[in-house]
Amino acid sequence: MEAATDWLLGYPFVFRALSRRIGSGEVLVDYGCGPGKVADHAARLLGARVLGVDTSPEMLALARASAPAVAEYHLVEDGRVTALADGCADAVMCNHVLASLPTEEAVLGVFTEIRRLLRPGAPFVLLATDPACSGTEYASLRIGEPGRVYGPGDELTVRLRRTDGSWQEVRNHAWPVDLYPGLLERAGLREVVQHRPSVDEALTVADADLAAGRAWPAERARPPLVITTALAA
Ligand SMILES: C[S@@+](CC[C@H](N)C(=O)[O-])C[C@H]1O[C@@H](n2cnc3c(N)ncnc32)[C@H](O)[C@@H]1O
Repeated sequence: MEAATDWLLGYPFVFRALSRRIGSGEVLVDYGCGPGKVADHAARLLGARVLGVDTSPEMLALARASAPAVAEYHLVEDGRVTALADGCADAVMCNHVLASLPTEEAVLGVFTEIRRLLRPGAPFVLLATDPACSGTEYASLRIGEPGRVYGPGDELTVRLRRTDGSWQEVRNHAWPVDLYPGLLERAGLREVVQHRPSVDEALTVADADLAAGRAWPAERARPPLVITTALAA
């Protein structure tokens, strides 16, 4: 996947939020690490000891083969990372995972497991697309259909641009971003703050060549990504 919009308005802001809170060698869990590209980048950029966890053994196998800066990979089974102890993490990030989850109970379950992994006071950084931005064609994604309004858990199709310029469709679920603070508090996190990065901010945060390489008209008009940060109580 090309993921240009994510590398402009998403991941660099996740890394910035983490860099303010964790130091070199501290443990960062990437919850739902997928193929490991973002985890690998975080390990190199932050100097953290990154642990990638995912429900998919196939994704973990791919990540092990292609993301060598990540220290360990673990399977999430029945909603738990049994290999990792309570409070083992100095920080957790979770990028584009919740859209796969079909119910609010499942979202709360992920937050609860993340809370278990975090030591008290440690930060959690969540990156998600806003389903209210439906139908807009961004550089590398389109969320749902134009003119549609999606309620919590509604199915929607996300189109992701591949590096060859073609589009891949993924069936996802809509989780309005204002649902997260209440669920995070129920899971035992506090001081929830949400931020919607803009293209102007990205000019000083994202990769300079990426930011300067396009005009980003859709991303400027309606930025589609929201970063939610919280602290383990
Ligand atoms: C769209 S990918 C995102 C991968 C990576 N975080 C990124 O930003 O590139 C979503 C990943 O979340 C994983 N996933 C889905 N449900 C999960 C759950 N309940 N717990 C942990 N991982 C999950 C999937 O297997 C998949 O690898």
